[in-house]
Amino acid sequence: MSNESNENENGECFSSPQDETQLKAFGLEESSEEICDNNCLLPDVTVVKSNKSTSLTSQSERELRESQPLLKRMDPDVVSINNVFADDPEFTSIVKEAETAIEAAIYPERISKGSSGSYFVRNCQLKRIGVFKPKDEEPYGRLNPKWTKWMHKLCCPCCFGRSCLVPNQGYLSEAGASLVDQKLQLNIVPKTKVIKLASKTFNYTAIDRAKARTKQNLSERYPNLGRRFNRIGLPTKVGSFQLYVHGYEDASVMLRQFMDNPLPESVQREFQLQFERLVVLDYIIRNTDRNHDNWLIKYNKPDEKKGSESWNQKKEPSVKIAAIDNGLAFPFKHPDEWRAYPYHWAWLPYSKVPFSKEIKDLILPQLSDMNYVQELCDEMYELFKTDKGFDRNLYEKQMSVMRGQILNLTQALKEDKSPAQLVQMPAVLVERCRETPGGNHKKRIRVMADQFTQRFQNRAPFFSWC
Ligand SMILES: Nc1ncnc2c1ncn2[C@@H]1O[C@H](COP(=O)(O)OP(=O)(O)OP(=O)(O)O)[C@@H](O)[C@H]1O
Ligand SMILES: [Mg+2]
Repeated sequence: MSNESNENENGECFSSPQDETQLKAFGLEESSEEICDNNCLLPDVTVVKSNKSTSLTSQSERELRESQPLLKRMDPDVVSINNVFADDPEFTSIVKEAETAIEAAIYPERISKGSSGSYFVRNCQLKRIGVFKPKDEEPYGRLNPKWTKWMHKLCCPCCFGRSCLVPNQGYLSEAGASLVDQKLQLNIVPKTKVIKLASKTFNYTAIDRAKARTKQNLSERYPNLGRRFNRIGLPTKVGSFQLYVHGYEDASVMLRQFMDNPLPESVQREFQLQFERLVVLDYIIRNTDRNHDNWLIKYNKPDEKKGSESWNQKKEPSVKIAAIDNGLAFPFKHPDEWRAYPYHWAWLPYSKVPFSKEIKDLILPQLSDMNYVQELCDEMYELFKTDKGFDRNLYEKQMSVMRGQILNLTQALKEDKSPAQLVQMPAVLVERCRETPGGNHKKRIRVMADQFTQRFQNRAPFFSWC
């Protein structure tokens, strides 16, 4: 074993026996995997799937396979997140700006309001460029810095927990909402993707901080040893990164303003169209947390001054909605226990107006196409499966809810309903069942086909208004 190299051909890191003794002496007895990726204290395990199509030919291959553990780390390709999005160089460069700023000690700052660890990320010019929400600091994540959620969970689980959601996957829900938004060209969710960041302003365990300090000290005193560490410093955290939108105000504030000073007619119409996009998004993803603090409005007022010089530069009034905080969506069942998690927009007067021709023209052709819906589900699969705790069954259930919502929505659009009428429609699930045509399971050649069944949910939540 050469002292020079610290990676074998499988890309696994290892240290020489000499280094290991040194590490032990410093109380940093790390497994080779920890040196590779100090993000995990315990290795993540997954069941090794048997692959019958791959026949092991040679004796050596068979021996190699037999010597492998039945439980192995997840395929790194499946879970690797490298902050590079080949199809989106613009987003990649914004994330790069965030990383550069952190290196220059411009650390993300925790958002004071909110119930979890969410951070405003800035660039080197100190401009806010994104909102990062680490997975482990989510409302019920293990490192949520805000204790109120824990108290809620402890003292009153019936009222505060969301039993219909896959736990601790809010960051995927944020990215998933953005995916739906982009796919349907709604353009109301600030672009959101899953990335990894480390910053000393994030919430870490004392052990993580101590380990990072020790590694830092070690690598300063013993540079050779330091080179063995794949990463010095605090471990990176996986989370959602949403682009920051400037000039927006919480909807709760703006809606009050609109009550006092109604919008001019042309802007009113624009607002209604934007509002419908919010309804479509929330309904499809079955958002369980759409209150008026979780969407933003930007209103560029008409120019008051009517000076002769500025007539040609006169700013047209405009209004735009941003749907933020989408971390509590994509339930695997319709809410059926204590609370109904209604969409708060359903009580607004805008909700009583039937869906416009514009939204129908945009949405109906897309959602009436089964292949399109399947494509959307497949893209959600690619996103959701990156989570280490991904469960295929739960994913299928999430998609059953989403397909049910899409079914109701298309029906409502075709029947000229309003958002208020849409939310009154009975909750439906469209479940996929893989069946053999003809039902003969003993046929030698089977043709597998996807079939869907529709099922209404009868059980209603105890409180329908909250
Ligand atoms: N993309 C964004 N652009 C601009 N401002 C944002 C953005 N995302 C969040 N904010 C601001 O940060 C505040 C908190 O964000 P958010 O609601 O997403 O956090 P949170 O921690 O999930 O809070 P909670 O779950 O309690 O609602 C928002 O009210 C909004 O003012
Ligand atoms: Mg919020």
